[in-house]
Amino acid sequence: MSTALQFNGRVALVTGAGAGIGRASARAFAAAGAAVAVVDIDAGLGEETVTLIRQTGGTAARFFPCDVSDEQQVAGLVRAVADTYGRLDFAHNNAGISPVTGNTANCPKALWDRIIAVNLTGVWLGMKYEIPAMIAAGGGAIVNTSSGVGLKAFPNQPAYVASKHGVVGLTKTAALEFATAGIRVNAICPGATLTPMVETKARAGAYTIEGMASMCPMKRIADPDEIAQVAVWLCSAGASFVNGAILPVDGGILAG
Ligand SMILES: NC(=O)c1ccc[n+]([C@@H]2O[C@H](COP(=O)([O-])OP(=O)(O)OC[C@H]3O[C@@H](n4cnc5c(N)ncnc54)[C@H](O)[C@@H]3O)[C@@H](O)[C@H]2O)c1
Repeated sequence: MSTALQFNGRVALVTGAGAGIGRASARAFAAAGAAVAVVDIDAGLGEETVTLIRQTGGTAARFFPCDVSDEQQVAGLVRAVADTYGRLDFAHNNAGISPVTGNTANCPKALWDRIIAVNLTGVWLGMKYEIPAMIAAGGGAIVNTSSGVGLKAFPNQPAYVASKHGVVGLTKTAALEFATAGIRVNAICPGATLTPMVETKARAGAYTIEGMASMCPMKRIADPDEIAQVAVWLCSAGASFVNGAILPVDGGILAG
């Protein structure tokens, strides 16, 4: 029995694939042979990811514009992916935002609403439309990106922490609901990872990358590919009995 990643003939959809973890995930799915639907709200970034994938032989990759918080756009996205490729096997619901918000007592309502809409409602809407498409394809696997703060709180980002805790609950719920339909649903909880999100917040003075690294037992933050490899593995045959798992990928932070 082989557990190697062999996704030839399979179709993967990755949201937030224009940068960071999503871009690394889209590239990793393509490297394993999948046709990849590169989904992002930012067309320039999404097309850049497609170019990177095509440069390494992933000719089936295509960009699909979508704001994951908009139900009509998500429904249209999944329809377009199924029309383009004829099936949907894997989804990595990864798009997320983490603007500076202040604490629980002063987080502006508009920021709260947008963070919940993208990070939590966006993951739910993704699954809402991906699951029927996967059932039509005979089954599939979904990975949702939560966070270390989906399991343990961190001050001064109430909406972000709440959204990521919500992704954990949503992942477990869908895992129970569709286990007999041949769909596995898991979540990854990355620790600090060197992406545009973290670089922007570090530049804004929210934290330092050295400070994030010092909190990790491995004394460094992650490369996006170290997170992407786990997402892709969760979709593989090697993970065939992994369902409803909430998996920290954080160098050991949550062990302490
Ligand atoms: N970087 C980290 O340290 C870290 C840690 C834990 C969890 N995460 C989570 O991992 C995911 C990816 O984070 P990242 O660091 O790669 O972020 P990033 O900001 O570097 O990239 C996110 C991508 O998502 C896209 N996006 C934003 N809003 C969108 C929307 N409404 N619809 C579609 N696309 C949208 C952006 O255009 C961008 O290309 C997020 O859910 C984030 O919360 C990141």
